[in-house]
Amino acid sequence: MLVETPFNYTGSKFKLLPQIITHFDYTKPYFVDLFMGGGSVYTNVVDKFEKILANDIIGDLVGIHQQLLISDDIITQTKSICPDKTDADAFLRLREDYNNNPSPEKLWSLMLSCTSNMMRFNQKFKFNQTFGKRSWNSSTENKVEIFKNHIRQYKDKIRFTSNSFYDVNISSNKVMVYADPPYSNTEAGYNAYWKKDDDDKLYNYLLDIDRKGSSFMISGVLNHAGETCKLLDDLIKDGFKYKTLNYDYNKVSRVGKKQTDEIVIINY
Ligand SMILES: C[S@@+](CC[C@H](N)C(=O)[O-])C[C@H]1O[C@@H](n2cnc3c(N)ncnc32)[C@H](O)[C@@H]1O
Repeated sequence: MLVETPFNYTGSKFKLLPQIITHFDYTKPYFVDLFMGGGSVYTNVVDKFEKILANDIIGDLVGIHQQLLISDDIITQTKSICPDKTDADAFLRLREDYNNNPSPEKLWSLMLSCTSNMMRFNQKFKFNQTFGKRSWNSSTENKVEIFKNHIRQYKDKIRFTSNSFYDVNISSNKVMVYADPPYSNTEAGYNAYWKKDDDDKLYNYLLDIDRKGSSFMISGVLNHAGETCKLLDDLIKDGFKYKTLNYDYNKVSRVGKKQTDEIVIINY
């Protein structure tokens, strides 16, 4: 059974997991979740690989995962500072405190209490999402319990890093890399972290993995509101195989009932 992580993360691949993880290259012993976000992918393949590296550029997000793997302290701290769902002032104080003096438990509290649980940063990487009149609740409690008990079974094989993807070094032919990047043509709150030339860097990074004999899968939306994603299009033109996934983003799309084609591209 699939394990849902407790973050309601924007862009989470949880609903698409059955169509994604069945196509990973399990002949490789090592797995890299290059853009782990809420972690739904590494969480659900951790039993299938010898070692897992999970990476994300947001250090405090990585800190939450890291601490949940080893102890309940972060749970206690987060519950104690998470604003009540009626307390907008407490939310604003916490947000300011986080922006002056960030920490994983403050970020998690903000994620739990902000609008639609959608973290959002401005161009200076300051958290700027509004109060969502929500807080730590019984659903959080249940999900945290299941999530932590699951990942702690594999404590010794999971390693976390917080780097830009291109600083995650793939040095052998033994790695299955899953890339689920933000896309410049979407509106996620973590897009402040995605630089103009990151698409090109990612394209070259994936070609390098291919040259080294390791495996990659990249997820993305090939056509969104009539626009084609150049990175994905270039990989397909290079001859890499792709599969179209079956999922309707219209529910969360701001552009109305436009067709989106969620795909994965693989090199194996
Ligand atoms: C689409 S989300 C990943 C969602 C994840 N697969 C899940 O199921 O929750 C993309 C992630 O990339 C991260 N990110 C943005 N720029 C990055 C960079 N340059 N290097 C590494 N991670 C980055 C964001 O913080 C975000 O968590």
